[in-house]
Amino acid sequence: MEIVRCRDYEEMSSKAADIVCEEIGKRPDLVLGLATGSTPLGLYRELIDRYGKGTVSFKKIKTVNLDEYVGLGEDDAQSYAYYMRSNLFSHIDIAPGNTHIPDGKNADHESECSKYDAVIDELGGVDVQILGIGHDGHIGFNEPGNAFIPRTHRVKLTEETIEANKRFFERRADVPKFAYTMGIRDIFRARKIIFLVSGKDKAGIIREALKGPITPEVPASILQLHSNVILIGEDKALELLDE
Ligand code: F6R
Repeated sequence: MEIVRCRDYEEMSSKAADIVCEEIGKRPDLVLGLATGSTPLGLYRELIDRYGKGTVSFKKIKTVNLDEYVGLGEDDAQSYAYYMRSNLFSHIDIAPGNTHIPDGKNADHESECSKYDAVIDELGGVDVQILGIGHDGHIGFNEPGNAFIPRTHRVKLTEETIEANKRFFERRADVPKFAYTMGIRDIFRARKIIFLVSGKDKAGIIREALKGPITPEVPASILQLHSNVILIGEDKALELLDE
C-alpha cells in the first residue's frame, strides 16, 4: 500500500484530486466510486474548482456511490443523493443519468440490492474507488460482523456509526437505523482505491485496519490484501502507524 502523508486536510484533498483528474485524463469514461461524509468534501471542492478552471471534464464519467440511508429519498437533505448533488454533481458537467446511488426509498431491500448489483455489473465494476473509514472500521456501510458480505446489502448501522453521524441530523433519533451499502467484493474489485483518512480521531482505527489481523470485525482490514491502494492521510491521522 502506498502511503501519502499530508500536513493538512487541504493537501490531502488536493493530492486526491490530482489522482482523480489524472485517471479521468487517461480514461474519460472512468467508473468512479464515490463516498460521502466529511472526509471527501475537500476533494469534491477541489474537483469543482478544477472543473471551473477548465482542467477537467466529467462529461463521460460514470459514478457509483457506496451507500444510502434506507428511508431517505433524494430530496431529503440528509440523504446521500442530496449530498452528492449539493457537494459535487450540480457544480460540474456530469450527466445525471451517469450517476448511481441506491434508492433509499425502495423498501423492498432484496429488489433494491439486486438492482444495484446489476448497475455495478453493467458498468463493469469500479475503476477508481474513493473510500473513507468509520470509527468502527467500516468502509461504505460494511459494518463489523462475522463475515465479509460480498455484494449490496441492507445493513443495520452500529450504535457507533449512528453516534458519529448524528451531527448531520437535527436529533439522534432521526438518524436512520439501516442503510444500503455496496458489498466488500465490489469495493475490493476496484482497480484503484484512493483511501482518505483525516482527523486525529481516526488514528487508532487506521492502525487497527492496516496493522492488525484481516478480519470482518474490522472491515477496512481487507484493504491490506488489495494491490493498488493509495492511502492519503493527514499526518495526525497516520501518526500511530509507525509505532
Ligand atoms: C460514506 C461512507 C462511510 C464514510 C465513513 C467516514 O459514504 O462510505 O464509510 O466514509 O463513515 O465518514 P466521515 O468521513 O464523515 O468521517
